[in-house]
Amino acid sequence: MQSKMPSLKALLLALLIIAVVVDQSFVEANFPKSMYINWGAHHSSFAGNGEDLQLVLDQTSGSAVKSKRSFLFGSIEMLIKLVPGNSAGTVTAYYVTSTEDKHDEIDFEFLGNVSGQPYIVHTNIYTQGNGSREQQFYLWFDPTANFHNYTIHWNPTEVVWYIDNLPIRVFRNYEKDGIAFPNKQGMRVHASLWNADNWATRGGLVKIDWNSSPFIARFRRFRARACKWDGPVSINQCATKSPANWWTSPSFSQLSSSQMGQLNWVRQNFMIYDYCKDTKRFNGQIPPECFKQQF
Ligand SMILES: *[C@@H]1O[C@H](CO)[C@@H](O)[C@H](O)[C@H]1NC(C)=O
Ligand SMILES: *[C@@H]1O[C@H](CO)[C@@H](O)[C@H](O)[C@H]1NC(C)=O
Ligand SMILES: *[C@@H]1O[C@H](CO)[C@@H](O)[C@H](O)[C@H]1NC(C)=O
Repeated sequence: MQSKMPSLKALLLALLIIAVVVDQSFVEANFPKSMYINWGAHHSSFAGNGEDLQLVLDQTSGSAVKSKRSFLFGSIEMLIKLVPGNSAGTVTAYYVTSTEDKHDEIDFEFLGNVSGQPYIVHTNIYTQGNGSREQQFYLWFDPTANFHNYTIHWNPTEVVWYIDNLPIRVFRNYEKDGIAFPNKQGMRVHASLWNADNWATRGGLVKIDWNSSPFIARFRRFRARACKWDGPVSINQCATKSPANWWTSPSFSQLSSSQMGQLNWVRQNFMIYDYCKDTKRFNGQIPPECFKQQF
């Protein structure tokens, strides 16, 4: 018996090490377990076994939720059904962000519109505090009629925004050329619904019609299939190539040719604004990554 003890200990230790390594690849689900309401407690509610969340905006308040954990690399998936009817001036936001001064952030924002008019999907990315990288799109469906899948994916080589499995935008890692990439800070997942009628609807021309309130955005089946952020040690742990770190596999390091075709279809047919083409805004100094992206 006694002689077996050390090997049992060794076995347990080995299991512990395996558990710690495997643990990096993490699935966070269920709204009440993984998120808390950080704005407008009386305006948001969880339902449906924790798989549903609704955010409400009225004249007294908007509402927001925030994940308890931070993540570095992986996929943040959410099904969203946007505010129906006259939603002009409302913005539904869904994003990941870090809290450091020079923060990283990857955004989806949905700008409401008057009844029957198209929503605008606004995307942006901040790296080490630098943003101003907006791209905007119309959608190829009515986002208020059904739930659709909006996914933020990022890994050591690229960030991809997906809508219903179609990549709509890519930001690749050009760190070797001095362009910062969001790979050094854990980010929390946020969702919010707020009054942005000072800028969202044609630069503030159309105001919210409070007669249409309360405005309600619905969220469903949140999944963070992502690496847990445990401080700076995670920078290497989450980037290490391994089967558990599935986001490091070659199939995620660049889009396939059919995905490139999908991306181009979205850009050609639904893109409204691309910061890379806004020469006036940057005084002719287009940001350097614009010359590097292959699309
Ligand atoms: C949502 O989209 C992502 C990215 O394409 C995909 O991995 C995931 O399986 C989708 N989720 C659902 C519920 O369809
Ligand atoms: C942020 O943007 C400023 C102005 O364009 C630039 O000078 C600076 O190098 C950028 N910083 C990083 C970390 O990319
Ligand atoms: C609203 O719809 C109009 C078309 O009727 C469009 O020009 C506009 O970009 C849409 N979005 C916003 C946020 O105003």
